[in-house]
Amino acid sequence: MVQAASSQSLSGADHWRARAANVLPAAGFGNFDPSMILARGEGSRVWDEDGNEYIDLLIGSGPMILGHGNPEVAEAVAEQMGKGLTFFTNNSAGIELAEEIVEAVACAEQVRYISTGGEADMYAMRLARAFTGRHRILKFEGGYHGMSAEALMSLAPQKLVNFPNAVPDSAGIPKSVEEGMVIAPYNDLGAVRELLDQFDGEVAGIIVEPLQRIIPPVEGFLAGLREEATRRGIVLIFDEVVTGFRFTYGGAQAYYGVEPDLCSLGKIIGGGFPLAAVAGRADIMAHFDKAKVGADGFALQIGTLSGNPVASVAGLKTMEILRRDGMYDAMAAKGEVLMSTYGDALGAKGIAHQIVGEPWLFDCVFSPRAIEDYRGVLGGDGDLAKAFNASMRASGILKADAKIYTHAALTAADMDQIQSAIHTAARAL
Ligand SMILES: Cc1ncc(COP(=O)(O)O)c(C=O)c1O
Repeated sequence: MVQAASSQSLSGADHWRARAANVLPAAGFGNFDPSMILARGEGSRVWDEDGNEYIDLLIGSGPMILGHGNPEVAEAVAEQMGKGLTFFTNNSAGIELAEEIVEAVACAEQVRYISTGGEADMYAMRLARAFTGRHRILKFEGGYHGMSAEALMSLAPQKLVNFPNAVPDSAGIPKSVEEGMVIAPYNDLGAVRELLDQFDGEVAGIIVEPLQRIIPPVEGFLAGLREEATRRGIVLIFDEVVTGFRFTYGGAQAYYGVEPDLCSLGKIIGGGFPLAAVAGRADIMAHFDKAKVGADGFALQIGTLSGNPVASVAGLKTMEILRRDGMYDAMAAKGEVLMSTYGDALGAKGIAHQIVGEPWLFDCVFSPRAIEDYRGVLGGDGDLAKAFNASMRASGILKADAKIYTHAALTAADMDQIQSAIHTAARAL
């Protein structure tokens, strides 16, 4: 045990920051600015240990689409907690949630639970290999699919190399993983076709965020991937960890009208608890069933908290609320207002910028050029973005570095405050 530095004399959040620095590498959980220590959240607002209040546009990195402490979700969770926290076995809440996913998501004929979105992506890639008997995965530069070895290939490379070479974005990954990856530029169907020709018969799966981070697909890109995957017997995987149940109830596949073979889901389906899923075609999902595919085709998959009933009821109640009339339109209307406020405020100052995304998820990239891929985002002015975000924070708006999540708990007063913060930030640049 390491001797803890004394934090006795420090007050408020300084005391927590000192304690965190003693026991957490880089003084944090690895996710977000570690100086921010949140104490509680309610509706659209969160409060930090320093006593500051913020309008929350981070919403736990996506799950809290209804805001914090939704009373209906809290009631469902409390009821389940009275019956048991986790069982490892099948349970009715998990089965009901799977039924609802199958009902809602076009590609979902069957569902397998895990605890994180990154695991869902990892298993989706593994299923693609098991199903096709091929070994390569095509992934897009800048695409985020969690923290598996494959997903860390060309996730956010600072050193740009020629396609299709993969750059590992983490230490500790075996060299062999690079060799199994084919890296392509997002939104460039021509490049994808060339790479699929080059690796003809070797590509098991194409994994793509239908909206990559905040970059929408150009017209025909997703449909083109669908066509190529079908023609070549490749499994098309949509990573819907963020977009699932956010871009309309049916997710990005419903919104953009292209159906993948498999998708990964997370965030919203767990209602704020750790739960994720891979869902898709029954013949591919059959590789989780040894009786159907035999020992050689079987993809072994076990997880202690898979199908956790507390997470399942939280997800089910969240989804029930999202199904109510007008929920998505109301969120979209707020997103559109905020997007145009960004445009007006920055336009008035003559600052080159692009508002990138869809109303439920977007941000501003400080660049004079339209953003269609990772390299476009990388070419944006990161210092301006940092300054803008710092000003937003000072005005009481909490957001991720490169994302704004619109959500259902934003009130008219919140909208006014956010708009005013955007104008203040633009004026300060
Ligand atoms: C598109 C996408 N895929 C996968 C993940 C990984 O999910 P998790 O953090 O639950 O592992 C994320 C997380 O933000 C994501 O945005």
